[in-house]
Amino acid sequence: MTNQNEIKKNVALSAAKAIMNERVIGVGTGTTVNYFIEALSKLPHQIECTVASSEATKLKLEENGFPTEELNTVGNFDIYVDGADEATKFGYLIKGGGGALTQEKILASVCKKFICIIDDSKLVGSLGQFPLPVEVIPVSRSAVARKIVELGGIPKWRTGFVTDNNNWILDIQGLKITNCAELEVMLNNIPGIVTNGIFAANKADFLYVGDSHGVKIIDC
Ligand code: 5RP
Repeated sequence: MTNQNEIKKNVALSAAKAIMNERVIGVGTGTTVNYFIEALSKLPHQIECTVASSEATKLKLEENGFPTEELNTVGNFDIYVDGADEATKFGYLIKGGGGALTQEKILASVCKKFICIIDDSKLVGSLGQFPLPVEVIPVSRSAVARKIVELGGIPKWRTGFVTDNNNWILDIQGLKITNCAELEVMLNNIPGIVTNGIFAANKADFLYVGDSHGVKIIDC
């Protein structure tokens, strides 16, 4: 089994088996998460309610027979399962390749345990190769871009893409991420930025990493 999609399916199945006795879960966004939803739907699970991090995930959950609820109705829950674009073994992440970073970060912030499911290509020594997604209020796009340039980054507008919150995304290359927790806070302080894709304050608790040999679980 070497195909990246097969690896994603395998890691997704492993996480689905681990949480199938939960009653309420939060669910992230992306292809790995879609495999997770499909795998969970085929297991004898106990899920009564799910909270989706995006419109796409909400649709996928409902297509697979899972009831969905708004976070405002549910409050907190124990388990959140999501993918990532990059992860360190300490659970620090870059997310937002799919543009759902804001609601993903909210769900990561309210759960008791964040399980991040990735294939081994996403496991890195330090964050920063993947362009860092930043969700911005549309009127602030060029103002934020200029601040990013001052910080040494090269922002690229994800043209044609509108988030579920009716905002825009800048993908930033070239930012040196030596201390991801500090950079996360610094970016949050730029007016116009809604969310940045560094998940340090709300990092993963467990990483499920799939490779051609199987799935490794890292307790972060
Ligand atoms: C979406 C995300 C995804 O978790 C990330 O892009 C990984 O996606 P995939 O599982 O498709 O590789 O952060 O905003």
